[in-house]
Amino acid sequence: MKEELRVKKIKDGTVIDHIKAGKGKKVLDILGIGNGFSKTTALLMNVPSKRIGKKDIVKIEDKALKKDEVDKIALVAPRATWNVVKDFKVTKKNEIELPETLEGILKCPNPKCVTNMNEPVKSKFKVEEKEPVKLRCVYCERLFGLEDML
Ligand code: CTP
Ligand code: ZN
Repeated sequence: MKEELRVKKIKDGTVIDHIKAGKGKKVLDILGIGNGFSKTTALLMNVPSKRIGKKDIVKIEDKALKKDEVDKIALVAPRATWNVVKDFKVTKKNEIELPETLEGILKCPNPKCVTNMNEPVKSKFKVEEKEPVKLRCVYCERLFGLEDML
């Protein structure tokens, strides 16, 4: 059965496709979609895919993604596709890729880290491993997994 039979095309917005099955909910969490989010959103789970067996898809109407949102999605859904939809057409399609460093978008879990002191220092992590993701804080040099960060 095709996905189109279940959730219709959107007019304008964002479709995050080829999310590894089971990770779609994490993508919603990362985008802060939940209580208080007002845009029409669909989470499709376990959609058959030729490329990756089964996948999840997230569709959000009237929302564009910011770069830091795309980078965060890459943490839970490497190799997902990010589609911009305008007037029912896909006008931009990008592979989501984890950058080598993540700056200012995650909080260091170490309470003694200088980035958590009163003076504002932007957090910065180096991606040491991609799957599963391991991030090293450039400041306190501790290594963290995703479960520590989100
Ligand atoms: N999509 C949508 N609304 C639109 C256009 C596309 O919800 N108006 C969704 C499609 O259902 C699909 C994704 O956006 O999940 C990408 O669309 P498209 O590029 O048309 O599909 P494919 O060619 O299958 O994409 P790919 O090659 O990336 O697998
Ligand atoms: Zn730190």
